[in-house]
Amino acid sequence: MLRHSLVALLAASVATQVHAAADKVEVDLFAEAGCPYCAHFTVTDVAPMFENGLSDLITFRYIAWGNAKNFTKPEGQRNISCQHGKTECELNRLISCATHLHPEQNDWFPFVKCIEEDPESATAAKCALLAKLDLTEIQLCASGSLGDQLEAEAAAETNALQPAHQYVPWVVVNGIPLGSSYQSLQSVICVATNAQRPKACYDVPDDDSLSVEFPMADDDPDDWSLQPRPDLQAYPKNRIFVQ
Ligand SMILES: *[C@@H]1O[C@H](CO)[C@@H](O)[C@H](O)[C@H]1NC(C)=O
Ligand SMILES: *[C@@H]1O[C@H](CO)[C@@H](O)[C@H](O)[C@H]1NC(C)=O
Repeated sequence: MLRHSLVALLAASVATQVHAAADKVEVDLFAEAGCPYCAHFTVTDVAPMFENGLSDLITFRYIAWGNAKNFTKPEGQRNISCQHGKTECELNRLISCATHLHPEQNDWFPFVKCIEEDPESATAAKCALLAKLDLTEIQLCASGSLGDQLEAEAAAETNALQPAHQYVPWVVVNGIPLGSSYQSLQSVICVATNAQRPKACYDVPDDDSLSVEFPMADDDPDDWSLQPRPDLQAYPKNRIFVQ
């Protein structure tokens, strides 16, 4: 009797596990609209994830502040200065408004992608039309107090990063910064997820800049496992594993 109920209990718990919704991997992109690397990353690395199923595995956020600064002028007035000028401040606010007003990432991402495709001449009108979002609502937000509030929130979240961001784009996955490996985002998501992986997870990342021919060890293997050989030290530390 006891054994039967135990088996039933186990079977039930296995069934729950199988049917439990997978956790989303949290991907936070700390960026600023006008930075070329942010734009390139958004268009080249993130946008394809909205086509290949990877975006279904993540909760994606774009925190639009980056390296902007918030000064208080001697007269007490506030002055926000963005790395790529006034236009970038405006685009950042548009992004914050679009993501706030349309919290579904599938809804806001086309708007952000449109901005990042051409940050120098992107306009709210063009991108709202393309993403089928309400232009008036976004403009009202961006030019008003809601825009101020969202901008302050993005600034506060960026400034609270632990460890602090060192550059942009700064990609954080489940709270862990990817640093200069941010372009491995897709692989990181595939490894981190507990959901069923789409086919894209099994495509071998192909980046010529990363291919390094591994030198053969011709010396005593014990020797070179202890100390990096001088000829290996020329390679980036994180690509060659020498104990
Ligand atoms: C804000 O600060 C920036 C950078 O110091 C400066 O170029 C800009 O003129 C200032 N804007 C205002 C409105 O004071
Ligand atoms: C800038 O600083 C002022 C004064 O501390 C603050 O009220 C405001 O919310 C800040 N804005 C941003 C975007 O950080």
